[in-house]
Amino acid sequence: MMAASIGEVQLLKVFAGVLAVVALLGCADDELSQVHPGEDIYNRSCFSCHAGGVAGAPIPGDSEAWSPRLAKGRELLMKSVKDGMPPGMPPMGMCMACSDDELGAAIDYMLTR
Ligand code: HEC
Repeated sequence: MMAASIGEVQLLKVFAGVLAVVALLGCADDELSQVHPGEDIYNRSCFSCHAGGVAGAPIPGDSEAWSPRLAKGRELLMKSVKDGMPPGMPPMGMCMACSDDELGAAIDYMLTR
């Protein structure tokens, strides 16, 4: 009688452990599959110049290059992306098919790096 109840308690502990592991794995999986909406656009249209700083393009994560641009506010950044900034930054970042939302998402993606 006594032995049986100890066995049950231990079984419950194992069961709880398995649940915890499943929950953890579930979370980790969610995080991995959460791709930023602007990442695709960035990789296709902006990466070629911005990743390496071609022609002085601000590199995502370079806070020194970005802080004066951040200070302009997102609206002005959006305007310089749409109109371009001669000579380096082409209008629409060369993604002529991109909507405002997509360009905005690509900017946000750069700013989060
Ligand atoms: C042909 C190279 C090139 C491509 C492609 C490109 N950029 Fe740029 N970008 C630049 C350069 C160079 C600058 C710096 C311009 C300056 O400061 O005069 C710049 C500046 C910027 C800035 C700062 C604007 C500001 O007001 O200071 C943003 C935001 C930006 N780019 C976003 C993007 C996005 C989003 C894309 C893709 C959709 C993109 N760029 C594609 C070269 C590029």
